[in-house]
Amino acid sequence: MDFLDKNIISIEDFSKDDILKILSTAEEIEKSNNNKLLEGKILATLFFEPSTRTRLSHESAMLRLGGKVLGFSDPSMTSGKKGETLQDTIRMVHHYCDVIVIRHYLEGAALEAAKVSKVPIINAGDGANQHPTQTFLDLYSIKKTQNRLDNVKVAIVGDLKYGRTVHSLAKGISHFSPELYFVAPKSLQMPDYILDNLTKNNINFMETQNIEDIIDKVDILYMTRIQQERFDNNEEYEKVKDIYELNKSMLKGCKSNMRIFHPFPRVNEINVDVDETPHAYYFEQAGNAVPVRQALFSLVLGAKK
Ligand code: CP
Repeated sequence: MDFLDKNIISIEDFSKDDILKILSTAEEIEKSNNNKLLEGKILATLFFEPSTRTRLSHESAMLRLGGKVLGFSDPSMTSGKKGETLQDTIRMVHHYCDVIVIRHYLEGAALEAAKVSKVPIINAGDGANQHPTQTFLDLYSIKKTQNRLDNVKVAIVGDLKYGRTVHSLAKGISHFSPELYFVAPKSLQMPDYILDNLTKNNINFMETQNIEDIIDKVDILYMTRIQQERFDNNEEYEKVKDIYELNKSMLKGCKSNMRIFHPFPRVNEINVDVDETPHAYYFEQAGNAVPVRQALFSLVLGAKK
């Protein structure tokens, strides 16, 4: 793919070679001391849903590249509150910047933004649909911790129904012949369209409701939060909210190379006693967001080829 001026909307738009290009560009940037590749460029961050890591790491990436940042993280203080449509907002903001990062509560919002934008749109999460840049940093983190991407055994635990990070990850990692284990209660299992896609691509996967069934087998244990905000019915949330609580004692039989990932924020699904173990990698994983997002900005704005 020629990345120049491209939107980053869905992980499905990226081939294996594209993903490897993004990761190698991130490695190159992380190793280099002089990365003022985007002086004079402006990033706009439009966040219609709460975020800590995704917004701040995009902003950090642009600032470290020598660019500047504008935007909002409280949509109630924008003209959206007065009824302005998303597409009208984009038709203005693209005059103010060189690239837009958008998070929205509606599935498909980033694609709708891209249809009218004159600058690249980066999807930072659209409802329960996709979070493609999280997948690039997850794959970067897998490569860093396992020294490879191919044939890795990955368990994904928690809210697999509404979890946009895991929808994107299941698709992104399928280029690298993984063995996948999906751990979720019956009400939050991975959607059929993702399982069908894995089957079509001959990817081995197993579904279970118990972490104990898989914890000794895997290289990556990818925990996720049960997302209260995605449930229509709070009673359903109450039934499953504390279903997985990983703690240090559960790690006794796991492989020495096993690393625990989480896109964060966490609630109760990883006890803080896990933080002190060599298996905890979630804070470093969040740090890997910066070189990966630096790579994405550099590629779509043509500072890296
Ligand atoms: N990983 C992630 O999307 O975190 P935030 O919701 O804090 O951005």
